[in-house]
Amino acid sequence: MTKRVAVVTGASSGIGEASVRALAAAGFATVAAARRVDRCEQLAAEVGGRALALDVTDDASVAAFAAAVGDVDVVVHSAGGALGLDRVEDADVEGWRWMYDVNVLGVVRVTNALLPGIRRGGNGHLILLGSTAGFEVYPGGGGYTAVKHGVNALARTLRLELNGEPIRITEVAPGMVETPFSTVRFAGDVERAAAVYRGVTPLNAQDIAEIVAFAATRPAHVDVDKIVVRPVAQASAYLVHREP
Ligand SMILES: NC(=O)c1ccc[n+]([C@@H]2O[C@H](COP(=O)([O-])OP(=O)(O)OC[C@H]3O[C@@H](n4cnc5c(N)ncnc54)[C@H](OP(=O)(O)O)[C@@H]3O)[C@@H](O)[C@H]2O)c1
Repeated sequence: MTKRVAVVTGASSGIGEASVRALAAAGFATVAAARRVDRCEQLAAEVGGRALALDVTDDASVAAFAAAVGDVDVVVHSAGGALGLDRVEDADVEGWRWMYDVNVLGVVRVTNALLPGIRRGGNGHLILLGSTAGFEVYPGGGGYTAVKHGVNALARTLRLELNGEPIRITEVAPGMVETPFSTVRFAGDVERAAAVYRGVTPLNAQDIAEIVAFAATRPAHVDVDKIVVRPVAQASAYLVHREP
C-alpha cells in the first residue's frame, strides 16, 4: 500500500523536526521543509523521507516547493515563532510584521499552494501550530499573541470554508515547550532564553509531536478541532510555578 504523505514546515528544528520523526514512525512518507534545508536533509536521511527548501514568506519559494511536493495528505504548519517581548507602545513594527508574515501569511501561502495536491489525495488534513498565546495575552506579548490569535482565526475559518470537503483542520495550542523558540525570540541570547524554563519542567518537542501524530492518525471522519497542552506548572501564560 502507498504511504500517506505528510509535509512538515519548520522541520529544521523543535516541534517540526520532532513531528517528522513521529509521523514517519506512524507510517507516513514525510517531507521535511524549512530554510535550513541541510538540517532537513539530515532528518530525511534518518527517517527515510524527503527534504525540501522552503521559505514560507517568499511566494516563489512556496510555489517551487508545492510543485516539488505533488500530492499530499497531511500538512503540519510548524514554521513560526516570536520576536522580542516589547510592550505595544514600544513595538518594533518590523519585528511584528515578520511574526505576521511567518506565522499567519506563511500558513495561508503554504495552504493555498498545497490545496490542489491535498484535494487530489481525497482525504486531507491541515494541522496548525497555534499556541496558548492564541487565546491568552500577557504584558509584552502583544505582537506574538496577536499573530497566534490570527492562527486560531485561520483554523476556524478554514474549517468553515472547507466544510463539505474531506479535509480536516486541527489546531495544536501548546504552552511552554523547550525548543530553540526562546533563543530565536531573544535574538540568540541563550541566558535569557534559559531563564524562561528556569525551575519548571517544560513540555518538549516530542510531547507535541505525539499529539500531532495522534491527530493525524485518527480515522478519516474524526476531526480533532483543537488540543491545548501545557506544562503542569503553567496555569496561564504568566502564572508559572517555579521551584527554587
Ligand atoms: N516553543 C514553544 O514554547 C511554542 C509554544 C507554542 C507554539 N509554538 C509554535 O510552534 C511552532 C514551532 O516552534 P518551535 O518551538 O519548534 O521553534 P523553533 O525550534 O525555533 O522552530 C521554528 C521553525 O520555524 C522555521 N521557520 C522560521 N521562519 C521560517 C520561514 N520563513 N520559512 C520556513 N520556515 C521557517 C525554522 O526553520 P528555518 O529557520 O530553518 O527556516 C524552524 O524550523 C511555531 O509556530 C511556534 O510559534 C511554540
